[in-house]
Amino acid sequence: MKVIVTKNYEEMSAVAANMVAELIAAKPNCVLGLATGSTPEGMYANLVQGCKEGKIDFSAVRSVNLDEYFPIKPENDQSYRYFMNKNLFDHVNIDKANTYVPNGQAEDPQAEGARYEKIIDDLGGADLQILGIGQNGHIGFNEPGEILTAGTHLEDLTEDTIKVNSRFFASVDEVPKQAFSMGIGSIFKARSIVIMASGANKHNAIAKMLEGNVTTFCPATLLNLHPNVTLICDEAAYNG
Ligand code: GLP
Repeated sequence: MKVIVTKNYEEMSAVAANMVAELIAAKPNCVLGLATGSTPEGMYANLVQGCKEGKIDFSAVRSVNLDEYFPIKPENDQSYRYFMNKNLFDHVNIDKANTYVPNGQAEDPQAEGARYEKIIDDLGGADLQILGIGQNGHIGFNEPGEILTAGTHLEDLTEDTIKVNSRFFASVDEVPKQAFSMGIGSIFKARSIVIMASGANKHNAIAKMLEGNVTTFCPATLLNLHPNVTLICDEAAYNG
């Protein structure tokens, strides 16, 4: 795993945005695997800025998001579809028809998992998958446990995750208890992966991942098995 340690959140965001911009310049119709959460917000802001300045052209870019709460409506301001529109898609020249997020209103969750996995396959996998990391080491919504799922699936969120994510909701009771997530196998279909982390509260998960061992009880450690992963993290996440 390649490791880039930045001074702070701003530098982490700029470094990640540059990698995305370089990919789009080299391959205008690339497939971006995108993530939500507070970590990538600054990266998206940089990409919006780059597009406004005419330096990045999203017109042929395709995107596939990691996860989405269930059940949730896309217009709910806590949905990841809403997040993506607000932070990126509404401000760049991407064709929204080429942007994919799991359907948080799916009637048949199993069928939705299979449908979404087929979208990933039809796109040929992501050229670059962006990831954040949960304090418990989850990637996407693949929660720690004895078993990790390979493909896109409905995941039961842990109490920890519900509590951590409740900061975005009016109350903890409003946090959905389940979410669709790409599985570890779906994530591994990406040719390259960038995992981002900022802040001392991510240090334990990052340190565990950097030990180089693999355990399903810290899903991010599985990234040690992928041939092309870059960690971009700030000093606080790296040093604790
Ligand atoms: C959420 C998302 C993840 C994200 C993680 C960290 O639960 N499902 O994709 O990476 O938690 O979030 P944040 O970046 O806000 O710390």
